[in-house]
Amino acid sequence: MQGQILCKASTFIAMTDETFFSATAMPDREWWAALWPDPEGVIRSLGVEPRMTVLDLCCGDGYFTAPLAKIVGGRVYALDIDQGMLEQARMEVERSGATVKKWICADARDLGEHVSEKVGYVLIANTFHGVPDKTGMARAVASILEPGGHFSVVNWHPLPRERTTVLGEPRGPRTNLRMSPDEVCVVVEPAGFVLDQVVELAPYHYGAIFQMVKTA
Ligand SMILES: C[S@@+](CC[C@H](N)C(=O)[O-])C[C@H]1O[C@@H](n2cnc3c(N)ncnc32)[C@H](O)[C@@H]1O
Repeated sequence: MQGQILCKASTFIAMTDETFFSATAMPDREWWAALWPDPEGVIRSLGVEPRMTVLDLCCGDGYFTAPLAKIVGGRVYALDIDQGMLEQARMEVERSGATVKKWICADARDLGEHVSEKVGYVLIANTFHGVPDKTGMARAVASILEPGGHFSVVNWHPLPRERTTVLGEPRGPRTNLRMSPDEVCVVVEPAGFVLDQVVELAPYHYGAIFQMVKTA
């Protein structure tokens, strides 16, 4: 249903401290584009391939949704809790000439209520550090993945925030929220995943790519 953003019955999701994940506000486009000059290359390096069905979990303003949609030929579910972000993402995808299968305005933890088919790939970029129950989140992801499907977590490396500068200023979540790939494994693998590979996303990020082995 391209062009239409579906919200839950109440239309507004109250964004309290409990619903909005910590330190996950969408960055300004100026420094985001300076940090990620090649979003399509990032998506390809994470193993996304044509014809996969993908969920872009916490898609923000669509910075990665547009190249995702282009690569997989529109087989994308895009979810965010912020309707304003989804509106920007919809325009970004439209500008790129791609399409999205379904826009979902919801809390990421409720994804099972909104994604009615099994998908082959779930991406969560620049958000996992702020999820309170990370294993619970990974379980929710596992519930909508095909057997053998992949779950990618793109995170800031656990460097001190003052060292991760972009356009001359420290950027990204506060240092104590940042996770190493090993720390991500500890919380994701109990949900039925094994680590497939860790991709370096210079200068400050990595992508931890997991494969689902069983539903935990
Ligand atoms: C830092 S942005 C990252 C956006 C995009 N993935 C990227 O890397 O460019 C994080 C996004 O997570 C969304 N978000 C925060 N809490 C959420 C929740 N509980 N459920 C769904 N989305 C949430 C925010 O609205 C924001 O758009």
